[in-house]
Amino acid sequence: MEKTRAQWGSKIGFILAAAGSAVGLGNIWKFPGRAFEGGGGSFLLIYLLIVIFLGMPLMLTELAVGRASQSNVVGAFHALGHKGYSWVGWVGVLGAFVITCYYAHVGGWVLRYVFAYITDAPVIYADSLGYFYNMLGLHADGSTSFPWVAVLFAGIFMALNAFVIIRGVESGIERFNKIGMPALFILLLILLVRSVTLPGAEPGLRYMLSFDWGKVTFETVISALGQAFYSLSIGMAILITYGSYLSKSENIEKNTMLICAADTLVAMLAGFLVIPAVFATLGSDQVGKGGGFAFVSLAGVFEQMPGGQFFGILFYLLLLFAALTSCISLVEGIVAFLTEWFSWERKRATIGVCAVMFLIGCLYTCSQAAIPIKGVWLDAVNGVTFPAFCDFMEFLTDRLMIPVCALGCCIFVGWVWKPESVIAEVEQECVRFGLARVYRVLVKYVAPLAILTILIMSLVTGKTLS
Ligand code: TRP
Repeated sequence: MEKTRAQWGSKIGFILAAAGSAVGLGNIWKFPGRAFEGGGGSFLLIYLLIVIFLGMPLMLTELAVGRASQSNVVGAFHALGHKGYSWVGWVGVLGAFVITCYYAHVGGWVLRYVFAYITDAPVIYADSLGYFYNMLGLHADGSTSFPWVAVLFAGIFMALNAFVIIRGVESGIERFNKIGMPALFILLLILLVRSVTLPGAEPGLRYMLSFDWGKVTFETVISALGQAFYSLSIGMAILITYGSYLSKSENIEKNTMLICAADTLVAMLAGFLVIPAVFATLGSDQVGKGGGFAFVSLAGVFEQMPGGQFFGILFYLLLLFAALTSCISLVEGIVAFLTEWFSWERKRATIGVCAVMFLIGCLYTCSQAAIPIKGVWLDAVNGVTFPAFCDFMEFLTDRLMIPVCALGCCIFVGWVWKPESVIAEVEQECVRFGLARVYRVLVKYVAPLAILTILIMSLVTGKTLS
């Protein structure tokens, strides 16, 4: 059955879609805290080096495999004549499935906060931590209840995703990104200007530009690497699907650089927006408070800035856009696989898989604070442990599936399909792959060794990748 595959309608459409996949909760919510922990400027430098030497070659690899095979994550390895490597695609699609389960729920919380800032800003200001936990079903008096508000909004978020996916690549994802991405960028710039001009923001700005090598440890490097992969959407084979919609006349090398640059720029903007703002309003001991950071600590920022409620709404709208475009890429990777592999009809596949992911994701939201659901984990230092189910889901993807899939891609391309095939795929219709020789070394030796080290380190020492 030969069907013509969907293609991106325009050059800018693809770049925006891929950048939309990359820019997500990872950049805006996770990155600033990590940069703070890693010593500000020194972390930024390490992060940049990792994006250039590992992120770019891996992204290029996934896009080239996708375009060469014109297939989904699993089918790609069959189409290129190496069925034995289709497990890489399976790990990717399963990982994307698990990520989406919780990604959509965190996206739902963000949607909740858009409305929360419209109606309840003074209530959030009065007790931002309490407000956050209340949403998750843990109340001030210590009692718990089913977190139906968070779950309801996660449902709406998932439905929004399904709606865009059902409308297809060209009309759905692309149009959405054409508006969403530039809007996001403009919103970030406005907030950045507001943030760095707050009185007291300067030490934060200086911190983000300082190089404190004393703060850099092996763990910082692991953290930067994990952050970079997650942020660039690498290691779930999702970009294979996006690459398969890419026309042969596109320059993959240039596109990769543009996407990586856009993603990194947004992360940096977010870092330079959040850290100085928090210094200005809460003091440096409040920076980097982990999971609740984007929901809890920023309340103090908005409270203390003129027009804070308005900026609060803008910020969560921005985060919502970013989360939606990323989540859409994850779901598209899964749906493309289901429709092509099992010949499922697109609409039914989308609705079915989104419903299941939403339900599994409920375990993530419920296990945050309201209901003690546990997972199981094993590592050499701690033995068998029973982490909260929400942590278990993140361990599964960040410590195991992302590095395994990324490693599989490197080994497949570096040693089986051969870097030459990627180079030939890039060099079509008079496009020259300028950095081909550097690429060959990176994908054959540097990237697999680096990823293997991370994988072993995280399983042996129990240190997390994300
Ligand atoms: N990159 C996104 C973020 O920063 C998350 C994401 C979307 C992702 N698609 C992915 C991560 C594929 C890994 C693989 O939030």
